Amino acid sequence: MRRIILIGYMGSGKTTVGKALARELGLVFYDLDWYIESRRRKTVAQIFAERGEAGFREIERNMLHEVAEFEDIVLSCGGGTPCFFDNMEYLNQQGDVIWLKADAEVLYKHLLMGKTERPLLKGKSPEELISFIREQLALREPFYSKAKHMLDVNLMDTYDKINISVTKAKELLQL
Ligand code: S3P
Repeated sequence: MRRIILIGYMGSGKTTVGKALARELGLVFYDLDWYIESRRRKTVAQIFAERGEAGFREIERNMLHEVAEFEDIVLSCGGGTPCFFDNMEYLNQQGDVIWLKADAEVLYKHLLMGKTERPLLKGKSPEELISFIREQLALREPFYSKAKHMLDVNLMDTYDKINISVTKAKELLQL
């Protein structure tokens, strides 16, 4: 039984790499945000608007405990998942956790291009966005760094490089 779990900041490519890795290894791909949205029949943005971040984090933890029991999966978490409750310890118990690590500048570029509505970033000017990412990354890295493996994704900006990340992830996992 295999359970591979991807963590990292928003815009680090968890969903993109996770999908490609699952396809390559013949595992089923799950994205925690999508799982939450289909179980609750609401978007993440709607949940934030209705219940605030604290309400979202409760739901996120409960949904994490459902999905991280499934077998033979690749699971991409939300950027904040490892940083609340005992989620990081739980993730480490449940599978092989890989942190997709990127610098604030790289994440910023990815997030500017991204189309997903992210409640934590909504309404920020470019200057506010980059300083928010820098500050939040500094607070979150201590949690992310508890992952068993780390994959540097600073250079993952084209499809070619997604394949490179998949190859590197397989090497880390000795697959
Ligand atoms: C969040 C990241 C999002 C989503 C929510 C909160 C965060 O997931 O869970 O908007 O706190 O970093 P992605 O990392 O997939 O964007």
